[in-house]
Amino acid sequence: MTGSGPRSGSPRGLSRRAFVRTAVAIGGASALSACLGREDADVPQADLAPDERPDRQHAWNEFLATDDHGNVRPPEHHLLLGLEYVGDGPSDQERAQLEDALASVERAYRYGNDGLVSTIGYGPAYFDRFDDDLPGSVDLPEPEALAPIEDPELDGYDALVHLASDHGHVVLSAEEALTGDLDEVNDTPVEGTFGEIFEVADRRTGFIGEGLPAENQEGVTGIPDTEPVPEDAPLFMGFKSGFERNQASEDRVTIEEGPFEGGTTTHLSKIDLRLEQWYEQDSHEQRVAKMFCPAHASEDRVEGAGHNLGDASGVEGCIDDADDDARNAGIVGHAQKAGRAREDGDPIILRRDFNSTDDDRAGLHFLAHQQSIADFVKTRTAMTGSDLTAGAVGPINNNGILQYITVRRRANYLVPPRRHRALPTPIPE
Ligand code: HEM
Repeated sequence: MTGSGPRSGSPRGLSRRAFVRTAVAIGGASALSACLGREDADVPQADLAPDERPDRQHAWNEFLATDDHGNVRPPEHHLLLGLEYVGDGPSDQERAQLEDALASVERAYRYGNDGLVSTIGYGPAYFDRFDDDLPGSVDLPEPEALAPIEDPELDGYDALVHLASDHGHVVLSAEEALTGDLDEVNDTPVEGTFGEIFEVADRRTGFIGEGLPAENQEGVTGIPDTEPVPEDAPLFMGFKSGFERNQASEDRVTIEEGPFEGGTTTHLSKIDLRLEQWYEQDSHEQRVAKMFCPAHASEDRVEGAGHNLGDASGVEGCIDDADDDARNAGIVGHAQKAGRAREDGDPIILRRDFNSTDDDRAGLHFLAHQQSIADFVKTRTAMTGSDLTAGAVGPINNNGILQYITVRRRANYLVPPRRHRALPTPIPE
């Protein structure tokens, strides 16, 4: 990985990253100044003006770093703000104010890992206040439970802001600027804030990147006291995820027509992880079988966290065996099952998930973009694989990673194209 910051072998570096993760989770002015004291505060200002950036808010990939295999390397620190609209419009004056706020933080930082990437999306609750319905080209249903074994709370926030950077202090400064607690950010004046428009109703934080889960596993509910998460793992479950060839392209997840052409949707779930059995009873071979597919395990294809896989998990060879593996081998892999939702050989959702220790519990904020929420539902249904377990011979607890995860909350948002990102009506223009 081409990431910033020291890794294993540098105790000072390890504690710095864990410290920054904690500060991002806490938030506020003192957490920000603590971060600035520990991190490199010298961050490049924007090289692209806000209106020179792509119209697609989700067009992050060409600006993000890549690893040695060409996989996109997501920013390390993430913040999600669930927002309630408290304005009395939405009015054009509020739209201008919100656009100024979003553009201010964009002007302050370069677009990329060492600066800031962001999106703002709007939930069904936001659009309910208008007389008009969303156009047929937008699929944005209310969130709902998606598996027989889950009973999630359904978020009803009006909007969701996603901020991400390799620097914790950048994420925190952007938050402080947007919420009106900073007049200047990275030597750039803050020209607008959420002010009387949005109140922050929910704050979720997290991280992804080699070494970060290992550094942040201590004392966290859901992870054994033996602190088993390997140092080379970018995620708590011990494997690399988001390979280039196992992601939908940004084109595939873009809304192609209508007033929101160039936009996308977000599905966000809050997932608790329970990794006691995962690490204490399952072997690496069993974990590989459950995460990827049984053939990957028997052929020993995954070394450690899977950095040897290059730019593809290589599950295409076993997707068609899912049914057979479930019925005869009694075990079926997570990626193998989810792969059944592919269209024309490619996945249809773009995963931008990250781990979390919010509430001192091991979790995953599963954030995915797709053209329609139906694409997410199709993929999640394939991942649940109820069809596979119906008459399966083997034990149901070998159904991918289902037994290790509990979905606590679900939410859907429309991420408009940049030109309509400030308080859109259902039929803008
Ligand atoms: C704790 C939760 C999860 C973890 C640790 C996890 C991890 C992984 C890993 C390691 C892979 C294989 C590598 C890759 O293709 O990038 C994978 C593939 C995938 N996962 Fe997950 N995943 C989780 C939850 C989910 C959820 C909730 C969904 C939603 C449906 C999902 C959808 C997918 C898809 C679509 C693929 C690619 C399948 C293909 O190649 O066609 N994952 N995941």
